Amino acid sequence: HNHIDHATPEKVLAAIGAGDTHFRLPDYETCETYAASGGYEALLNLRQGGDWEAVQEQLLVAGLRGLGGAGFPSGKKWGFVHANPGPRYLAVNGDEGEPGTFKDRWYLERTPHLFLEGMLIAAWAVEAEKVFLYMRDEYPAVLEILRREIAALEGAGLIAPGYVDLRRGAGAYICGEESAMIESIEGKRGLPRHRPPYVAQVGVFGHPTLVHNVETLHWIARICREGPQVLNATEKNGRKGLRSYSVSGRVAQPGMYLLPAGSTITDIIAAAGGMAEGHVLKAYQPGGPSSGLLPASMDDVPLDFDTLQPHGSFIGSAAVVVLSEHDSARAAALNMLRFFEDESCGQCTPCRVGCEKAVKLMQEDRWDQGLLEELSTAMVDASICGLGQAAPNPIRLVMKHFPDEI
Ligand code: NAI
Ligand code: SF4
Repeated sequence: HNHIDHATPEKVLAAIGAGDTHFRLPDYETCETYAASGGYEALLNLRQGGDWEAVQEQLLVAGLRGLGGAGFPSGKKWGFVHANPGPRYLAVNGDEGEPGTFKDRWYLERTPHLFLEGMLIAAWAVEAEKVFLYMRDEYPAVLEILRREIAALEGAGLIAPGYVDLRRGAGAYICGEESAMIESIEGKRGLPRHRPPYVAQVGVFGHPTLVHNVETLHWIARICREGPQVLNATEKNGRKGLRSYSVSGRVAQPGMYLLPAGSTITDIIAAAGGMAEGHVLKAYQPGGPSSGLLPASMDDVPLDFDTLQPHGSFIGSAAVVVLSEHDSARAAALNMLRFFEDESCGQCTPCRVGCEKAVKLMQEDRWDQGLLEELSTAMVDASICGLGQAAPNPIRLVMKHFPDEI
């Protein structure tokens, strides 16, 4: 399951077929270009006697929250990790596995050094002995960019050789769960751990570990370079900040759209060029399959942290998938549960058996709603990690909003 391997360009090429390049290296911002426009000045200034708590305060003022999807206040995490004695580590979660999510890839293929500077600022803040950068193996161009640019940073003397350890995932969705990722980094099978203890206390090899998602680190660099207003100056529908929506499905122009955090599905579809020709909005997935499916009638809800919980959903990684009248909500939910069944690590019964049972029940002509609801409650209450806890969301939301189909 888990490759513990250093991603050399040769190995990346070998893994995808030697000499047969399936990826095109995008025209990204190199180390020289980034440095020429003031890049790494913030990091170097901080390293010369900066105060980590002052930077932490800037993150809190900016309102930066974890952009892997959980939205935990990023600055607070620094405090939790700092409270524990070293050695400490930074583990970067680049295992962007939530279906429909491609924002991290979008940033890494364009401005990798904003991410890398943010990563080194976070490492500085918690005095990390080492950085483990866990990247999704399905992004070969990103791996190659990171290989080259980490080498450039080593060459420029910004980091010691080996300080940033680039690790490749192996396609397991569960290895994006932070404690499963840590198990994988340690060379073990990616099974989520019980918590507490949180990884801020007991992380990589038992040491306090700061875990940040790629995009979170991108914004840490931007806040340090441009100030907290880069995020908190935008306000829409009572929500502050910006959100990177990965938009796909029945829209005219699928892609990554950086929009105000208070954007509704109507705003997002408009940004993506409107609906694809011949399609009318029927439903949408606001943040990957874990967030379930919402009906077109909910077109006035800001798609942000905290705004969707009252509706039995959440924004998560902001992977917006748009469905039209040509699509079946029931079939979409079944597809999501099949995905969770495949990707469940199998460690705990409510999730392992629950996903399998749910798929069987959802394949029946008529859904046994009472039984599916009972099953959903057991999965939410008793699963160890977010996979099993969120898997019932598509079931519940289809029962609530699309009763005619089931
Ligand atoms: P969580 O809310 O349990 O934890 C978020 C972070 O805060 C973790 O780093 C955790 O260690 C930390 N934390 C929370 N409470 C803490 C405390 N009391 N003390 C110290 N640290 C604390 O959420 P989780 O399970 O880490 O993430 C779930 C989210 O991940 C979902 O919203 C889902 O959408 C998203 N997700 C994203 C994927 C992607 O590809 N980006 C893939 C799958 C899920
Ligand atoms: Fe594994 Fe699912 Fe249990 Fe998470 S909830 S530990 S994925 S079996």
